[in-house]
Amino acid sequence: MTIPTPAASPDAVARYHENGWYPAGFALDRDSVAAVRGRITELGGHRRPEVVHEKQGGSTRAVHGCHTWDELCAALVRLPELVGLAESLLGGPVYVYQFKVNFKQPYEGAAWPWHQDYAFWREEDGMPRPDAVNIAIALDDAHEGNGPLTVIPRSHRLGLLDLPAPTARSGDWRDHVSADLAYTVSPDLAARLGAEHGTELLVGPAGTVHAFHPSIVHSSTDNLSPDRRALLLITYNAVANAPAAPTRPEFLVARDTAPVVPAADARLTLRRAG
Ligand code: SIN
Ligand code: MN
Repeated sequence: MTIPTPAASPDAVARYHENGWYPAGFALDRDSVAAVRGRITELGGHRRPEVVHEKQGGSTRAVHGCHTWDELCAALVRLPELVGLAESLLGGPVYVYQFKVNFKQPYEGAAWPWHQDYAFWREEDGMPRPDAVNIAIALDDAHEGNGPLTVIPRSHRLGLLDLPAPTARSGDWRDHVSADLAYTVSPDLAARLGAEHGTELLVGPAGTVHAFHPSIVHSSTDNLSPDRRALLLITYNAVANAPAAPTRPEFLVARDTAPVVPAADARLTLRRAG
């Protein structure tokens, strides 16, 4: 199928800015998901700093930044439909700020507490504005039982919440990728926001694509099911919004801020969602 670029209509862009999240009208097809899943599973077995393990049990929790050292992941971030979606949501050229896969292994995959991504990106990296977007691609079926991403619609409009005092910050990037996150939104506040705005589970078959805002309050629970829940997250940032002097490792904050050049790839094709 051919999906028009830019991928989001003006109505869809308005809906994204209203709600802070958006279900893309397309998904990676079965063969493409299988190819990316196979590659990612292999990369998750590597021993290198970009591969993070669960504190309990030691299984692979995440792989970071592999679009810079794996050519299939590099091809994925250049897909015209994904770049077009990010460009239309942000209104201009984009580059890849961050790329990661969170695995949530069966029974062992640990929760992500309530948080806002922009807290990390502003406080740790100096990103000027939340003019970035997360594109989330399910590599496994995401269902209610395997710890899917949960967002609180419209919470992205509230600014940054519950920031710790500067003296209470660890400054260790490992606290930005573990289940003990450095910047969290308290469970009480999340419960109040959830009661006011409701919550949405970003579920769907493998290949499903969602976009969500850097300031939206989100979390996910432990995976207590027998099903892995690998979620691939590409963060595109507006080129005009690049931080001036980031210090965290390059696999968490890209230094190459050149606009992504879109390119189709025969191994990676999309289908209409639903
Ligand atoms: C994230 O908050 O960046 C991801 C959480 C998840 O993988 O469930
Ligand atoms: Mn997050």
